[in-house]
Amino acid sequence: MKTIAVVGATGAMGRSIVQSLIDHPSNGFRVRALTRNPMGKRAKELENYSDRIVAVQADTSDQKSLEEAFRGVDGVFCNTDYWTAGSHVQEVVQSINVATACLKESVEHLVYSSLEYVSAITKSTLAVPYFDSKAESAEYIQAILPKATILVTAPYYENFMGYALPEKREGSEGGVEFVFRDPMADKPYTMVALDDIGRFTAYAFSEFESVKGKKLFVASGSPTMMEIAETFSSVTGIKAVYEPMSLKEFREKSRATVNDIPDSPDGEFVGNMFEFIRDYGIDRDYEFIKSINPEVMDFEKWLRHTGWKGEPVGVQNYFVTQTGK
Ligand SMILES: NC(=O)c1ccc[n+]([C@@H]2O[C@H](COP(=O)([O-])OP(=O)(O)OC[C@H]3O[C@@H](n4cnc5c(N)ncnc54)[C@H](OP(=O)(O)O)[C@@H]3O)[C@@H](O)[C@H]2O)c1
Repeated sequence: MKTIAVVGATGAMGRSIVQSLIDHPSNGFRVRALTRNPMGKRAKELENYSDRIVAVQADTSDQKSLEEAFRGVDGVFCNTDYWTAGSHVQEVVQSINVATACLKESVEHLVYSSLEYVSAITKSTLAVPYFDSKAESAEYIQAILPKATILVTAPYYENFMGYALPEKREGSEGGVEFVFRDPMADKPYTMVALDDIGRFTAYAFSEFESVKGKKLFVASGSPTMMEIAETFSSVTGIKAVYEPMSLKEFREKSRATVNDIPDSPDGEFVGNMFEFIRDYGIDRDYEFIKSINPEVMDFEKWLRHTGWKGEPVGVQNYFVTQTGK
């Protein structure tokens, strides 16, 4: 049985990774769930999920703790956390700590969760530090660990349950309606379901030979926001509309509401992310994606799977702590 160490195990993405590894039909994985606090609620919930999960103390700022946690494992999954790392630079440092600890402990197979390399794709006209920090780290990681697999993900559908929650208001014909607002306009918005990230990762660890050294560009769907609102209405039976917002308005709103983003005290980089996704797009090959995860969830499937009806759900630890959402 393979043992996989999961960095970020107690987080929104990590929980789904751990569960997918445990639920994988091969029954072939044990998990070391890394956390700064093995006695914490999230760590205990994970341990209660299966006796093949053990919570292990480690901190991505402390390379020695990573080396101890990786000793004897067959693979490492890593999702570093930009938001608590505190900056682009710090996330790169933490990612390199993870890769170096893999090298020292002779762990060849690191699956590193990344995002689009925005500053490279836009020829240095747009910066999104919380994308670029992962993408830059991924380049270095593949240079020092040639068998590492880079899983290039996308924004979660689950963001709609938290910081991108649709506004609830009284509809023009009575009753409530939900309003989705962002600057995507009529452009496809590539997103991913957390449970799909789990399945892509379980695939990567079970098919090491075919994914080693590769970048896997994954996602669950690329609907427009109009399609999101229409699908929400038809699945939940609750009316929803999409009201596009200009990038200018979005940036102003971000400045007013986001005042503690590392690297971007004025929220400018969140606007850059939407400008990038809207104008450059996150391109995905769904034929390939279905070949590695036949259960991939388009937005409709995700709505039915989660049963979400527009209510707030605490998903990402960081945002729950910072904003209560
Ligand atoms: N929201 C999206 O759409 C999206 C999409 C793709 C990627 N991402 C990226 O995902 C990352 C956040 O992950 P998440 O969504 O799972 O958030 P989350 O729910 O806030 O979880 C953060 C995780 O990081 C761990 N962590 C933080 N600092 C650590 C440290 N110094 N050492 C060890 N572990 C540490 C936490 O573990 P403990 O507290 O237990 O130590 C926790 O498991 C961000 O970098 C974000 O950019 C987000």
